[in-house]
Amino acid sequence: MSDVEFKEGLEDVVAGTSEICFIDGKEGRLVYRGYSVEDLAEQTSFEEVVYLLWEGQLPNRSQLQDFTKTLTAMRPLAQPVYDLLMSLPDDTNPMDALRTAVSLAGIYDPDSHDNSYEASYRKAMRLVAQVPTMVAAFERHHQGHDPVAPDAQLSLAENFLYMLTGKRPPALDAHVFNTALVLHADHELNASTFAARVTAATLTDLYSAVTSAVGTLKGPLHGGANEQVMVMLEKIGTVDNVKPWLDHALANREKIMGFGHRVYKTEDPRATILRRLSHDLGEKAQNLHYYDMLEAVRQHIQAKKALYPNVDFYSGSVYALMGIPSELFTPVFAVSRIAGWTAHILEQYRHNRIIRPRADYTGPEHRTFVPLDQR
Ligand code: ACO
Repeated sequence: MSDVEFKEGLEDVVAGTSEICFIDGKEGRLVYRGYSVEDLAEQTSFEEVVYLLWEGQLPNRSQLQDFTKTLTAMRPLAQPVYDLLMSLPDDTNPMDALRTAVSLAGIYDPDSHDNSYEASYRKAMRLVAQVPTMVAAFERHHQGHDPVAPDAQLSLAENFLYMLTGKRPPALDAHVFNTALVLHADHELNASTFAARVTAATLTDLYSAVTSAVGTLKGPLHGGANEQVMVMLEKIGTVDNVKPWLDHALANREKIMGFGHRVYKTEDPRATILRRLSHDLGEKAQNLHYYDMLEAVRQHIQAKKALYPNVDFYSGSVYALMGIPSELFTPVFAVSRIAGWTAHILEQYRHNRIIRPRADYTGPEHRTFVPLDQR
């Protein structure tokens, strides 16, 4: 194997073809099925984007109506999934709760014994509809409140905020949350999507592939970074403390959460949009504390290093201003990314070859075996 080029972390390795999502890391462009994420973020509902990712086309009005109606009807959870979420210990990590609920939902899915493409598509719809219900139900339980049943009159974004708080969200919150869902819906072969595709490529079922993805998203180098950004802001405390705190962290070679990206060599376009939303929400709430802190962090980091904010840098502040607790930031990422995971799993099923790379072996060779009682 030594003559084969090895790239640590598979950096810049092309591991397959896909028609779903394009990232231009140099120019800072993100495109779903040919449409720029800036156009989609401002003008589409999350449901439209799910349809686009799966079908390759934006729906017309009647297609969207039918699609949304089917999705909406799928929001309630199977009773055993609901019972599981209500029985978990209080200190359960919400991503662990979600991973376990997704896995259990696979057993109770009406198509659980059918792995045909059509059945997998229906499973994907159920998961897009039910992941928000799982996340909200567990959080309500965790806070000591009764879960709120989904409201079929509300969009997916509005309904999630409603199930979380029991109140219909203000129009600005619903709009901003919908935009955040659109921005997080897909991102090519990020770690969790790659995990989903590797799992799906064995031709196992869609729930197994999504369970892999949820576990992968949880890590602080991936979806867990948005929560860590808010932890960092809390530790820093004040704008005046930004410079000394960051200088100390950088001197200790600590990673600054919400900065850097494997693909973007400039600002992540999602961060640019979320920065504006963070400002708008902060201004409306007359609370620009997070925004001012984030801007001070960004300016100081960029004065010191060629590092740019990624999507996780501003998303936490947006969610916090909507009253979403920080332990839910990564599950909220999953509420959106379930769209991309399932689009990629379905694409993998359509053009499958098992994904089985090689390792560059660096261990010992030709050792002499010593039987157990002689060691
Ligand atoms: N803070 C400080 N330095 C950094 C950071 C950071 N956030 N990110 C990269 N660097 C530095 C590294 O120390 C390294 O410097 P060196 O060459 O002097 O050793 C160089 O930049 C390259 O960094 P790598 O970690 O090798 O880059 P990689 O592509 O492997 O990792 C990653 C990308 C994981 C996103 C990394 O930038 C990071 O850990 N960021 C913080 C966590 C984060 O925000 N994750 C969210 C990513 S977006 C998402 O998953 C939704």
